[in-house]
Amino acid sequence: MQQKTLIVLGVGGTIAGLASDAGRPQRYVAGQLPVRQLLAGVPLPPGCSVQAEQVAQIDSKDMDLAVWQALLRRCRHWLAQPQVRGLVVTHGTDTLEETAWLLQALLAPQRPVVLTCAMRPANAPDADGPGNLRDALLVAATEGARGVVAVCAGRILAAADVQKVHSWRLDAFDAGDAGDIGQVRAGQVRCGRAWPEPVAADSAVLERFLAASELPWVEIVFSHAAAGAAGVEALRAHGGLRGLVVAGTGGGTVHHALHAALQRARQQGVRVWRTTRCVHGGVPPDPAAELPAVDLPPAKARLALMLELLAA
Ligand code: SIN
Repeated sequence: MQQKTLIVLGVGGTIAGLASDAGRPQRYVAGQLPVRQLLAGVPLPPGCSVQAEQVAQIDSKDMDLAVWQALLRRCRHWLAQPQVRGLVVTHGTDTLEETAWLLQALLAPQRPVVLTCAMRPANAPDADGPGNLRDALLVAATEGARGVVAVCAGRILAAADVQKVHSWRLDAFDAGDAGDIGQVRAGQVRCGRAWPEPVAADSAVLERFLAASELPWVEIVFSHAAAGAAGVEALRAHGGLRGLVVAGTGGGTVHHALHAALQRARQQGVRVWRTTRCVHGGVPPDPAAELPAVDLPPAKARLALMLELLAA
């Protein structure tokens, strides 16, 4: 039987983090161990071989355009190799959902690209990284798997739905009302939902993203009690602002003072999208609303607006 090749791309994160005192793993630095070392002792799925590559070594709070470009290039390269069954990306949890969404939007791969992570550093006595990496490799090797997904704490979550919803639990991610794609239990991958659709991404947008020296400037503003106009006015006065995502209250409602400032920004050509600061539920469609709504959480909505501005 021909061996299936899995590619593991290391980006950093707590999964590659080290505590200076393994007995106190709460204090650690993310992005320390090379990806090859993360694989040591992790069982491979039957019939698979693995190749590892270090793309970056960062705390994902510091994710930036250059790392995304490098990761997109390496994913595109490996996805074009016929012997490659799937990719695994070891990533920090903090911006994992943004990277997952971006990879799906720009690559929409026919094969699986599995992001995995950890909530405890690699030298913690009860580190969760090795188990998550083992599960991610199993998912990447699964017949029929495709698209960008996250695998953490035995759960498989689609790039479109995954959100970090807890700051310290091992099971830190959720897929909201959409639900998980499936689970990895005792070495078996079980799916209850379809894999992400390989909807053809606009290759011109990918090329522009890869060639960009900076992304269109889009900020997120929150609506809240006693909100005002000053923040949006200051951003507008700075010059160069291309878009704003407003994370509204509840079903996407916006304080009247902030709303007025956003309308003024729109009149000056700034694109404004409205979503909700609620983790679950989204924004109901309202054709009469003055500010267009988008059914994505704020950080993903910001990326989607940037891509739309790049496409224009
Ligand atoms: C990071 O996102 O790189 C640090 C936090 C984590 O991985 O849990």
